[in-house]
Amino acid sequence: MIYQVEIPASVLSQERPLRLVQCSDMHLFADPATKLLGLNTQQSFQNVVELIQQQQPHIDLLLTTGDIAQQSAPETYQRFLKTIQPLTTEPIRAPHFCIPGNHDLDDSYVDGLNMNPLPCEVIIGNWCCILLNSTVDHEIAGSFSNSTLEYLQQALERQRNRHVLIALHHNPIAVGCEWLDQHMLKTSQTFFDILQPFSNVKLVLHGHVHQIFEQVYQQVHYLSCPSTSLQFKPKHDKFTLDTANPGYRWLDLYANGHFETDVCRLEKFNFSIDYQSNGY
Ligand SMILES: [Fe+2]
Ligand SMILES: [Fe+2]
Repeated sequence: MIYQVEIPASVLSQERPLRLVQCSDMHLFADPATKLLGLNTQQSFQNVVELIQQQQPHIDLLLTTGDIAQQSAPETYQRFLKTIQPLTTEPIRAPHFCIPGNHDLDDSYVDGLNMNPLPCEVIIGNWCCILLNSTVDHEIAGSFSNSTLEYLQQALERQRNRHVLIALHHNPIAVGCEWLDQHMLKTSQTFFDILQPFSNVKLVLHGHVHQIFEQVYQQVHYLSCPSTSLQFKPKHDKFTLDTANPGYRWLDLYANGHFETDVCRLEKFNFSIDYQSNGY
């Protein structure tokens, strides 16, 4: 499936670049009062949406990179869509696309969300975002099916004249946390091999790791997104929560392929998280 996103006049006249906002790993429950290790994930997600609303008057593309649900049920996804409404309706009206994570179980995700099927291409100006499903039924680790890999190859050939950003849930590169990296993307090498001949691939965005990770590999920038819920401490081999606040990532995509990016986090955050916990 190929989607074409309308470009606002302010971007066409080059007053500003395209603004992409990435949110990830909400881990919402069917009951909005439920907490995850002491954190009300619905509340923290809502706070991040409010922060985006304050900071991002123009969003040309809103991307959610998986683990929307901790408890995958149609009502979880319906509440997710309702929570994100201030960004997808007037005045921001961000076009919104979703990718599932390992916690998003297929039937509930598809029925409850009724969003873009995957894989897909989202064309926006001189850029194309290729969105891929890396989840495997009832597994935490990620992998690409043969049909997804074939789609990726063909999409890259179709999009030779555009700058390409690829988004998926799982991390294709180990982030240095053993407990997380055992559940990274298992088909990374095939993925890297497919990308390698295409010098127009600039960025790979992912979620899953609940921390900031940024690395260049074979001239492609691999970037993760903080969770809107719990944060995992970087470079820790065993499950360790980080005291960093929930947040999101923004990217500015320029017509010449250049990009800028940063992460924004909540400043005030009054929740009592069980930091001593050894798993979730
Ligand atoms: Fe997650
Ligand atoms: Fe995940």
